[in-house]
Amino acid sequence: MRPAATEFEFGDACSRGGVGPLKSTALLTRDSRDLATSNPQDENLDCAGVYRRTVRAGLSRVWENVFDWEHLPALHEQDFHSVDLEDCGSWGWRVRLLNQPGVTSRQQIIEMRADKKAGGYRVETLNGPGTGSVVRTMLKRRSSRRTDVNVDFLVPRGSRNLAAIGARYAELYARLWDQDEAMMMRRERVIAARRRSRNTHPRPKTLGTIADVRDRLPRLVSFGGERFRLVELDGKLIAHAVTCPHWLGPLDQTTIVDGCIRCPWHGYRFDIRTGASADGRNLSLPRAPDVVTEAGRVCLVPAHNETG
Ligand code: FES
Ligand SMILES: [Fe+2]
Repeated sequence: MRPAATEFEFGDACSRGGVGPLKSTALLTRDSRDLATSNPQDENLDCAGVYRRTVRAGLSRVWENVFDWEHLPALHEQDFHSVDLEDCGSWGWRVRLLNQPGVTSRQQIIEMRADKKAGGYRVETLNGPGTGSVVRTMLKRRSSRRTDVNVDFLVPRGSRNLAAIGARYAELYARLWDQDEAMMMRRERVIAARRRSRNTHPRPKTLGTIADVRDRLPRLVSFGGERFRLVELDGKLIAHAVTCPHWLGPLDQTTIVDGCIRCPWHGYRFDIRTGASADGRNLSLPRAPDVVTEAGRVCLVPAHNETG
C-alpha cells in the first residue's frame, strides 16, 4: 500500500508511481550553474517578465509543493491535461505534459531542478512549444507561515513579443500559485487540527428520522473526532471520509460517479461503498461508520469490525 502522508520533510519527494512521504533533507543538484547568481544572458536568455508575491504558507510547505509534480493535471486541470513522470529524485523531476486533451502537438517535456542551497529552482522546457524557456523561482522565508516567491520568465534570446509572452506567463503563474496556495493552506490547517485533536472513542450517534435525514443530503457529520459525508447511493445511506488519505485533500464537495469520488488535488479515486482505491493506487479511505436504521431513525455506529 502506498503510504499515506500527513506531514513530510522536504527531500526525496517522488517515486515513479506518485508522491510519497519525503524522507531526506539533503538536496542534490546536477546543475553546476548557481541559481541565485547566474545571469540569464550567459545562457542566451532574455527576461520576458517577472512575477512576485508572498504566499500564505511556510517555506517547507512550498518546497513540498514544488516537488509535487503529480498535482499538475488535477489541481491545475485547467492548464494541464495529463502528466507522465520520466524521472525524479532529490534533484527534482522531469515530466511529459499534455496541455490540451488529444492535442499531441502541444506535448512538452519540462524539468524542474531544485537548488535548495541557493533557495530556488528552475523549470526548463526541454521539448515541445517553448523549448529552451526557463522559469526561475527564488523562495525566501518571510515568516513561519509566509514565503516570498520571485519568479523570472526567461526565453531564448531573440524571441519576439517579449511583453506579450511575459504577460501570458504572469497570468498563468498567478492562477497556479492561487491554487497551490489554497492547497498548502488547507493542508497546513488539517495537519494543525490533527495535532490538536484527540480522537474520541466513537459512540453511536442518532441523526434523525429517515425522512429528515434524506431531506438534508448530502450532509457532513462528525463521528469519533473525524468528519464524514452522508449520502444516498442506490437507495442506501452511506457515510464516507472527507479527508483524502494521500495528502489530506478535501473530499467533501466531490461528485460521485459510479459510486466513486476523485480527489481534486492529485486525482486519486476511491469507491465510497468500500473505501477502497478505485484507480489501483492502493490508498484506502479512512474507515467510515456504518449507517443503520433503528425504529425509523438513522444512526451512525462504529464500522462493523470496529465494534467491541
Ligand atoms: S490529497 Fe492527493 S489525491 Fe487526495
Ligand atoms: Fe502547482
